[in-house]
Amino acid sequence: MATNRTFTMIKPDAVSNGHIGAILNDIIAAGFKIIAMKYTSLTAETAGQFYAVHAERPFYGELVSFMSSGPIVAAILEKDNAVEDFRKLIGATDPSKAEPGTIRNKYAKSIDANAVHGSDSDENAEIEGRFFFNAFERH
Ligand code: TYD
Repeated sequence: MATNRTFTMIKPDAVSNGHIGAILNDIIAAGFKIIAMKYTSLTAETAGQFYAVHAERPFYGELVSFMSSGPIVAAILEKDNAVEDFRKLIGATDPSKAEPGTIRNKYAKSIDANAVHGSDSDENAEIEGRFFFNAFERH
């Protein structure tokens, strides 16, 4: 099951710029099924926990402050080969390097405010989904 799932967030920049609907359309059109979804927000503390793996990176402080700056949409998605296919759909971390047609190419303006998150492994997809959704919500 885990191999067919990934986790995403629509980040504060994309929410505040009005791109939730367009991004969800792209995700669904690419064949992903929404298993669980919520409109919520992170505090500095919970954003810090979510991105703990980056704690030693120079951009960590700004990343935490950006991710807790406004509402986000968190979702668990299902599709064959979900993690890899979703990373392709969102494009490179730096939107200026993201392929045309990818979500970051279309909706992101900078590497630090890059519109969407996508899990980078099946293991992290599972961990990140559990971070936001309880067992009932993840069915
Ligand atoms: P990373 O896991 O490298 O990228 P991705 O989200 O594509 O898996 O980095 C996590 C987030 O950290 C990234 O989405 C945006 C932020 N970030 C920066 O702000 N500056 C940077 O130089 C990098 C590499 C990432």
